[in-house]
Formats: sequence, structure tokens, C-alpha cells
Amino acid sequence: RLNLAILISGRGSNMEALLSAAEDPAYPAKPVLVASNRPDAKGLETAAAAGIPTLSIDHKLYGKDREAFERALDEALTKAGTEIIALAGFMRVLTPWFVMRWEGRMINIHPSLLPKYKGLDTHQRAIDAGDAEAGCTVHWVSAGVDEGEIIAQASVPILPGDTADTLAARTLPEEHTLYPRALALACQQIRR
Ligand code: GAR
Repeated sequence: RLNLAILISGRGSNMEALLSAAEDPAYPAKPVLVASNRPDAKGLETAAAAGIPTLSIDHKLYGKDREAFERALDEALTKAGTEIIALAGFMRVLTPWFVMRWEGRMINIHPSLLPKYKGLDTHQRAIDAGDAEAGCTVHWVSAGVDEGEIIAQASVPILPGDTADTLAARTLPEEHTLYPRALALACQQIRR
């Protein structure tokens, strides 16, 4: 089992899906740390209640110095014995230094059918474009934001009258199924 660290910024529902999957001893990753850049992230409580070590590293304390924040994060990840990182609603853009340090060992979930709609407001942008479907993507993290190699995707229909909220509510359960599956695939690729 690879030592898994999950990085979050908020609710942590995808993190929860990963923690549940990892309760199976046959799952290829074992959570060793859940870390948040926001001390008030709801997901930290959920992780602590599940008995997983948690850590908050408030990016605001580092001002504009992104690398100082990331060095603190990197140190904590290394200390925890991290072998693979899953970004789960982690809303900080990572510097090339951090990405290079963890390249090939870090994955992310994004709420669109990449390469469409990198960045924010993905659901509203899919609706505005008149797309017939939306979805979610798990991908390796590379230097370009939301640009790394795709591991797995799931799609959902966009229905008449959809708002960003109704579309997000339809997509989220797909994320929760997709992410544990994609993380398992990523673990196999690392092992090879
Ligand atoms: C999820 O929908 C995830 O795909 C998205 O944030 C939400 C986090 O929810 N991620 C991004 O937008 C990354 N740019 P969660 O905290 O409940 O998992």
C-alpha cells in the first residue's frame, strides 16, 4: 500500500470518498495525512474523526511567498512518509518547484471534462457554452494548471434548466465514484 496524503481546502467530500475506499485493506493506498491550507476546512474535522492525522498550514501566514508555504507543506508530507498525493478540492495553484518535486506522484480531481474548462466556474461555463454534457476528470498534476495526463473521466448530462448548482450536485456523486477508482489506477502506474 502506498502512503497517501490528501490535500484539501474545504468541504472534503472527495477526501471522504478516498478515505472510505482506503478502509478496505486491499485498496492500494493507505492515508497517512490530510492537510489543508485553510484552518477552517470542514474536511479536517471529518478526517480527524476517521482517525487520520491532520494538519493545517495557513497559506495566509506566508503572505505572497508561495514557496515558503510549499516548503512547509513539503516538509510535512515528507515527514509523513508520503508516496502519493491526491489533491481533493485543494484550491491553491502550486509552483513549478512543488509540482516538479512531486511529479509522477500527485493527482488531482477537476470538475469538467478536461481539456475543456480548466480553472474555475467549470459548470457555469459548460452550461453557457450549450454543451450536452459535463463531468469530472482525474489527472496527473503537471506544471500547466489542469493540463496533466488524464487518468479517468466520468460524464453527466446537462439538462434543460440546469444551474451551476444543480449541475454540480449531479456531478459530485460521479466524482466520489471516479476518484477512488482513478487513485487505484495511479497507484498501479507508480508501482510499475
Ligand atoms: C470538487 O467538485 C472538486 O472537483 C473541485 O472542488 C470540489 C471540492 O469539493 N475541485 C476544483 O475545482 C479544483 N480546481 P470537496 O471538498 O467536497 O471534495
